Amino acid sequence: MAQENKYFIEPENAAEMARLLKLDRLLTRAMGGPLGERSQEELENIQDVLDIASGPGGWALEVANTYRFMRVTGIDISEIMVRYANGLAESSGRSNAHFRRIDALSLPLAFPDQSFDLINARLIVGFMPTTFWPQFLKECQRILRPGGILRLTECEGGMIGVTTSVGCEILSRAGMLALHRAGQSFTPNDALLGSMTVLPSLLRRTGYQDVRHVAHAIDWSINTPWYDACCQNALIGFRLLKPFLLKHRAITEEDFRLAYQRMEQDFQAEDFCGMWYFVTVSGTNSPG
Ligand SMILES: C[S@@+](CC[C@H](N)C(=O)[O-])C[C@H]1O[C@@H](n2cnc3c(N)ncnc32)[C@H](O)[C@@H]1O
Repeated sequence: MAQENKYFIEPENAAEMARLLKLDRLLTRAMGGPLGERSQEELENIQDVLDIASGPGGWALEVANTYRFMRVTGIDISEIMVRYANGLAESSGRSNAHFRRIDALSLPLAFPDQSFDLINARLIVGFMPTTFWPQFLKECQRILRPGGILRLTECEGGMIGVTTSVGCEILSRAGMLALHRAGQSFTPNDALLGSMTVLPSLLRRTGYQDVRHVAHAIDWSINTPWYDACCQNALIGFRLLKPFLLKHRAITEEDFRLAYQRMEQDFQAEDFCGMWYFVTVSGTNSPG
């Protein structure tokens, strides 16, 4: 069953690939490593890993490099990102990682039942309609082994969390409104995304057990180590998001220009503050 591509940024855009490469390093470090919340004993039971919407492959390659006994498959809709990730795996000698171009919205996924011990997906709200989540979670159950783990990470506050920048907040709000109109937001209004709020419950309703969550927050206020990387993510990300915002009439061209200009100035303010919130939700596939 194929769905219209809903990703809010053009997936074949090289600038988006560059943004995701930097974002991956930032997020994985801020989350304490690629599988930071898992115990040694849990990690030892994981052999086959699937990363859904793997982008240019940063997370999957870090898993393959850190845990050499694991076999990691990444899937993404973007041809350039899959090609890049395979190139990186080959040139770095990571024969336990490979990447395939697969649309995660086209079910069933091209994997036999019970193929994986762990499925990871980080930041997929940008292309996942809310109505599709129940089928998607069921499909993950099918390809997970009994006792296998589904691990999802989503954020709140749009492109970059909550800030003291007037311009950034106008653009974030437009992003929420556009996602709301596109059917990719769980909240009854357009103020927030709500995915972090509903995922634990969705997992429980689908039959996953031992549903857990871990929260992360990145302080990227001025003079912090994360400031430069997050400013860049916002400046590039909002430019790439602009066609999606205009398509859903979440902002006018002129208001976008003014808000963007204001955001650039606000980021330089000596009292600028930004905080980005994430939650990793996981659940175990029932043993049969
Ligand atoms: C925000 S990025 C997240 C990348 C990566 N998971 C990470 O956390 O660094 C979303 C990714 O979803 C991919 N994507 C968009 N639509 C998709 C679809 N229908 N199926 C699979 N991947 C898709 C994009 O190409 C992009 O790489």
